[in-house]
Amino acid sequence: MFKSSTEAVPEQLNAVPRHIAVIMDGNGRWAKQRFMPRIFGHKRGVDALRETIKACDAMGVEFLTVFAFSSENWRRPVDEVSFLMGLFLRVLESEIERMHANQIRLRIVGNRERFTPDLLALIEQAEASTAGNTGLTLSVAVDYGGRWDVIQATQAMLAERPELAAGFDEGDLAPYLAMNYAPEPDLFIRTGGEQRISNFLLWQLAYTELYFTDMLWPDFGRAALEEAVAWFGGRERRFGRISEQVNPAS
Ligand code: IPE
Ligand code: IPE
Ligand code: MG
Repeated sequence: MFKSSTEAVPEQLNAVPRHIAVIMDGNGRWAKQRFMPRIFGHKRGVDALRETIKACDAMGVEFLTVFAFSSENWRRPVDEVSFLMGLFLRVLESEIERMHANQIRLRIVGNRERFTPDLLALIEQAEASTAGNTGLTLSVAVDYGGRWDVIQATQAMLAERPELAAGFDEGDLAPYLAMNYAPEPDLFIRTGGEQRISNFLLWQLAYTELYFTDMLWPDFGRAALEEAVAWFGGRERRFGRISEQVNPAS
């Protein structure tokens, strides 16, 4: 288990983030600008993701977590929802070999109750078969919501340890959160111009550096990632302390 940023100041902080979390937004607008249907933007979004994974790997990022479908995205037109679910299934199938070749460990985080049985089976198989890989851990958030996560974790914790109903702390809850296997994100990136969290990793983003860019997700790639990481390198992460404590020389 990783220590949380609110329990202790993280010890080892690098210029390159260990964990990057991304809201891949702007696919629909990217397509619209080209007078194409929205789904075309989603397809191109997969290419941008592939390039981002490669770039993260090359930079030495250990964890990349991407938001692919939120718990609120079910509110979209049914055609788009079913296209996205189908795309997810096809991409899982077609990319699994590449993931092995690159030693990528895949995790899917979110509520699995609404997935079709074939998607569920594929997810389980992809996770199990990449579990032993030693490279980048890629987490794809699908039917994920930050509030869902906190509630499911609390329920799971109380089911296993009913005595905690009388009182518990964050260390008790942490093992039940969906991303218990990863340190908290160091850098959050949202493309597409909106400056909001949209119910992504509410708990885990407590001390994450937040980076927003107007670039639409299908245009994102190595150069844009490098720009975000360079910005990150210039932040002073104080975790509640004052500047002089962080940098005694300043
Ligand atoms: C993000 O792009 C992808 C998903 C939410 C699945 P959008 O589909 O939200 O694109 P915009 O924001 O409408 O441009
Ligand atoms: C957030 O994007 C979710 C994903 C990228 C999967 P949305 O496009 O759904 O967010 P809102 O609705 O603009 O906040
Ligand atoms: Mg959007």
